[in-house]
Amino acid sequence: MSFVAVNAEQAEDWNGASGRHFVAERERHERMRARLTARLLASARIQDGQYVLDVGCGCGDATILAARACGTGQALGVDLSGVQVAEARRLAASAGVANARFEVADAQVHPFPPGAFDLLLSNFGVMFFDDPAAAFGNLRMALRRGGRLAFLCWRTRDENPFFTIGFAEAAQALSLREQAGPSAAFSLADAGQVGALLSGAGFDGIEFTTVDEPMLIGSDPDDVLEYERASPSSAELLAGLDPARVAELAKRVRDDLTAYASPGGVTIPGAAWLVTAHAA
Ligand SMILES: C[S@@+](CC[C@H](N)C(=O)[O-])C[C@H]1O[C@@H](n2cnc3c(N)ncnc32)[C@H](O)[C@@H]1O
Repeated sequence: MSFVAVNAEQAEDWNGASGRHFVAERERHERMRARLTARLLASARIQDGQYVLDVGCGCGDATILAARACGTGQALGVDLSGVQVAEARRLAASAGVANARFEVADAQVHPFPPGAFDLLLSNFGVMFFDDPAAAFGNLRMALRRGGRLAFLCWRTRDENPFFTIGFAEAAQALSLREQAGPSAAFSLADAGQVGALLSGAGFDGIEFTTVDEPMLIGSDPDDVLEYERASPSSAELLAGLDPARVAELAKRVRDDLTAYASPGGVTIPGAAWLVTAHAA
C-alpha cells in the first residue's frame, strides 16, 4: 500500500473481499440507501462554490451528488479502498462530473490542507476508525472555522434488522458459530458518546436526528438470499459447512426475509442517526 493507513485491518478488508463486494453490489447498495442518502444531502444544504470532503466515500455515490450540488466548487472523496476509489473515478468520469476528485487515504491521519473545506460529509463512512478521537480531530482541522459536518451512521443493531438477518446470525442461532463481537458498523450508535467525542474534537452545535427510512434490499427473497450468500462473511462461513447445513441455514435466512417481502420487493427498515455540527 502506497499511502499511510493506521487502520491496517480495515484497509486490508476494504481493499480485499469487502471492497470487491461493495463494487459488485454498488447499484444495489445505492438503491437500498437512496432515501437515507437523500436525507443526508438535504441536510448538508450544499451551496454553489463550496468545497466538500466526503469521508469513506466508497464508490463515490454521495461525492458525485455533492459535486453536482456545489457547481463551481469541488468535492473530494477519500477512502481506504483502492478498488472502490477506482470505481468512483470511473463513475464520475462516465457521468461527466469533472469537479469530483478521489484519493485513497486513511481519513484518520491524512494531512488534509488545513481549513480547506466548507463541508465534511459522510454516508456511513466514519464508524470504522480505530482512534475516533484522533480521526475526528484530524477531520476538524480540514474544515474552515464555522464549516459544517453532516454524516449518517447506524443506530443500534437491534433497530436494524438488515444486520440480524443473515447466514452468520442463523449459524449463531443454531450454535454453529460463536456470538460475534461488537461490529464497527455500530460504533457511533450511542448519541451521548458521539456528542462527547465530537465536542472533544472541536465541534459545536452538535445535533442528532433520527432518520428512519425503508431500504429496498432486492426484488424477492431469493434475490436477497443470493446477495446474502455472496457477502464475504457468509462466503467464509459457508465454505466450512457441509451442504445439508448450508441448506438448513439458507432456509432459515429465506424464511426471515419472507417476513419483509411484498409485491414491491424485500424492504427492511433502516435506522440511522443524522449527525450535524459546526467546526468551533
Ligand atoms: C459502509 S462503507 C460506505 C461507503 C460509501 N460511503 C457508500 O455510501 O456506499 C464504509 C467505507 O468507509 C471506508 N473507510 C473505513 N475506514 C476508513 C478510513 N480510516 N479512512 C477512509 N475511509 C475509510 C471503507 O473503505 C468503506 O468504503
